[in-house]
Amino acid sequence: MKVTVVGAGNVGATCADVLAKREIANEIVLLDIKDGFAEGKALDIWETSPINMYDSRTTGSTNDYSKTKDSDVVVITSGIPRKPGMSRDDLIATNAGIVKSVTENVVKHSPDAKIICVSNPLDVMTYCTYLTAKIDSSRVFGMAGVLDTARYRSFLAMELDVSPKDIQAVLMGGHGDTMVPLPRYTTVGGIPVTELIAEDKLNDIIERTKFGGGEIVKLLGTSAWYAPGAAAAQMVEAIVRDQKRIFPVCAWLQGEYNMKDIYLGVPVVLGKNGIEKILELDLNPEEKAMLEESASAVKNVMKVLDDMDVVS
Ligand code: LAC
Repeated sequence: MKVTVVGAGNVGATCADVLAKREIANEIVLLDIKDGFAEGKALDIWETSPINMYDSRTTGSTNDYSKTKDSDVVVITSGIPRKPGMSRDDLIATNAGIVKSVTENVVKHSPDAKIICVSNPLDVMTYCTYLTAKIDSSRVFGMAGVLDTARYRSFLAMELDVSPKDIQAVLMGGHGDTMVPLPRYTTVGGIPVTELIAEDKLNDIIERTKFGGGEIVKLLGTSAWYAPGAAAAQMVEAIVRDQKRIFPVCAWLQGEYNMKDIYLGVPVVLGKNGIEKILELDLNPEEKAMLEESASAVKNVMKVLDDMDVVS
């Protein structure tokens, strides 16, 4: 299996490192526009192979897309990250141009690839990828829900003092402050979370999750990379190993949840064909209202992209 990661910044390099270390693909290409940068990161990753005892080969390329030819999966992490005080939406103008040109190159050299967009603002950059790629939406989706649920699960594990492995959760909506964690679909070792935690504590965790990305930006002065990189790698694994995992993924909705022509985080089955199924939960009126609010926030930014006329 061949996987390309475009963008050798913190998120891209972490993703490539996880893919290599866990032998998710035997061939990993890291590509960046900055001269020698991807080659350097890839070499550093490869030099961990005798220590970490794996043989997945990571190579780097300075913008030579012919090296990415016939990739099975491509992860797009290109773009500038947030600085303190910026929202993800502030990145749109710069990142849309970058994501468009990356996508054109990706599709040219790997027409059959599944494409995972990780660039921010996530939902709208995934939309930009889809408009540019002109391939079936089952093969173009975004990484956000896996990261957001990981944050939610890790906070719950701390609060309950239990293993994060035993916490299962669904989180829907956009990758922004309007994301929709769903306590009704959160279990701890099969036990509904509401039986184990006081309502106010759970609400605090939900709020912390919504601003989980911002919490890291405040601490580091730039956005997160370990959890985003690992989350993207987990999605790649589900595809290349045809695991049919159920993950919240930013997917193109065509009537599901009564929504049309929008990229939004929903639970899906992820396997060798990409998104093999979108799961429709029976949301209660309150949950539906939250999802609709999140969808309208995403639609507003999609409209900004449409009006910019970057992608035709
Ligand atoms: C975050 C960025 C990657 O949530 O969106 O950390």
